[in-house]
Amino acid sequence: MIAIGSDHGGFLLKQEVIKYLEDNNIQYKDYGCYNTDSCDYPDFAKKVCNSIVEKECEKGILICGTGIGISIAANKVKGIRAALCHDCFSAAATREHNNANVLALGGRIIGVELALKIVDIFLNTEFSNEERHINRINKIEM
Ligand code: RB5
Repeated sequence: MIAIGSDHGGFLLKQEVIKYLEDNNIQYKDYGCYNTDSCDYPDFAKKVCNSIVEKECEKGILICGTGIGISIAANKVKGIRAALCHDCFSAAATREHNNANVLALGGRIIGVELALKIVDIFLNTEFSNEERHINRINKIEM
């Protein structure tokens, strides 16, 4: 199960990502927002991240205008490794090296096609499971 959330700045891109998830038969839970009315990105970061920490969902996708605020908020939640990625290399690398469990995107920064490619890579790239990367992730959690 994939958790997805955005503020108003990410709402339109969130709807495109939801369409991608539905087209690919990927189960998801939409934690809002549900329209373009102004709202606060930390609220949606918390909802999505809590669903991951509580193991209701395996990974999350968070979108705000830049992806910056919502990724900062997500990374305050213990156990969350949120990566703001606007290129394909970063999306693959953050899964392989950081075992990132949340992808952050900026709806005012990136085009839909590239965003969906990044989502596809993020969801389909496994963690390397290499000892040096496990050690580094453990140091983050301490
Ligand atoms: C909302 O206007 C905007 O500040 C928000 O979406 C995000 O870009 C914050 O980092």
